Amino acid sequence: MNVRDTEHMIAELGKHQSYETTQNMEDADLIVINTCSVREKPVAKLFSELGNYNKKKKDGAKIGVTGCTASHLGGDIIKRAPYVDFVVGARNISKISQAVEKKGTVEIDINNDETTYEFADFRQSSYRCSVNISLGCDKSCTFCIVPATRGDEISIPTEIIIKEIEKSVKNGAKEVFLLGQNVNNYGKNFSDKRDKSTFTKLLQDISKIDGLERIRFTSPHPLHMDDEFLQEFASNPKICKQIHVPLQAGNDKVLKEMRRGYTKKWFLNRCEKIRNMVPNVRISTDIIVAFPGETDEEFRDTIDVVEKVKFESIFNFKYSPRPHTPAENMPNQIEDKVATKRLQEVIDLHKSHQDEHMEKYLGTTMKVMFEDLKPNGEIFGFSDNYCQVFVTGSEELLGKIVDVKITKANRTSLKGEVVS
Ligand code: 5AD
Ligand code: SF4
Repeated sequence: MNVRDTEHMIAELGKHQSYETTQNMEDADLIVINTCSVREKPVAKLFSELGNYNKKKKDGAKIGVTGCTASHLGGDIIKRAPYVDFVVGARNISKISQAVEKKGTVEIDINNDETTYEFADFRQSSYRCSVNISLGCDKSCTFCIVPATRGDEISIPTEIIIKEIEKSVKNGAKEVFLLGQNVNNYGKNFSDKRDKSTFTKLLQDISKIDGLERIRFTSPHPLHMDDEFLQEFASNPKICKQIHVPLQAGNDKVLKEMRRGYTKKWFLNRCEKIRNMVPNVRISTDIIVAFPGETDEEFRDTIDVVEKVKFESIFNFKYSPRPHTPAENMPNQIEDKVATKRLQEVIDLHKSHQDEHMEKYLGTTMKVMFEDLKPNGEIFGFSDNYCQVFVTGSEELLGKIVDVKITKANRTSLKGEVVS
């Protein structure tokens, strides 16, 4: 979502202020740092980066801080780093062009409604468009700062989403990436109080767009993976067979304390169903180790789920206490030494699964959409199920979806030959 927010800011600043992007920091008249605050590390990094930019920037260049850290620290950022010109929170991106104009601007209303704001158009990829379908989050996972930085969940009207995708398809996009904190909760709440809708219905509407060949989305919530949604995921040929199913933890008591709303049994059942219904599906997940109070024995349930589901990809995190979250004040915060050990165990187990999955693609044929040419003459793209695939080829392949026979596999990518 931050990547898309950055695209929106580039577009707005280009349209209303005629800014252009530069690869060279010393040339910049404006430096915008778009921040994440989901874990502590990026927040700490912000102030050292700010100091660094302030030292190196061109005379008179402005500096702005945007995104989730802007939402939760607000004006304190300017107190701590007075050379910062403006602060714009993650739900206030539409105000970026005005903020640049007025030194000291702080716009951090977390319930600002941008669902019908028509952002100026810009996207980094020629063949893929990322499109927000909802803002904010209506869950209250006890470890997570997002509801405090991105506000209440609100869905973008279907016709606005469709119009944006149609426009991108006209300009060459073949694939859409639908974005939201909780995509499969889509349609519960619109700002004009219209009738509710569902994510399944949205997927059906989007797949009718002529010229659009692939649909991806992130992140769904395991709780809302009802059978109707899984059926649509499995049977709609435009929906790519890649799905993120964020586990967080495997133990029921820990899940309850995290307020995730599902049990280990439900999670395993959903993944089993996905694997049974969708051949070749790739399942990714997020795992937090060492949530406050998690015992060694409870952690075994996380390992058990990893062993059973054999995720194709895992984003692993050590629990990081965040301000404005209930878990921050929970007793029994876990020592870093224990967290490191648990994290390593997940990583090691996952590596063996990655190797197993990648090897089984050898000799198979995958449909790959090529999107980037490397200086070494290799061209790469993604298969329908989101494997990174490299072939030797020319720019004629860019933007095309072609059959590739896989000849080499390593842990994170594949190599192959175009089948003519
Ligand atoms: N500590 C560690 N990881 C976190 N995440 C969210 N909040 C925290 C936290 N306090 C992780 C979750 C989420 C992903 C985007 O970031 O796994 O799914
Ligand atoms: Fe955070 Fe939970 Fe919402 Fe995801 S579902 S953004 S983890 S509160």
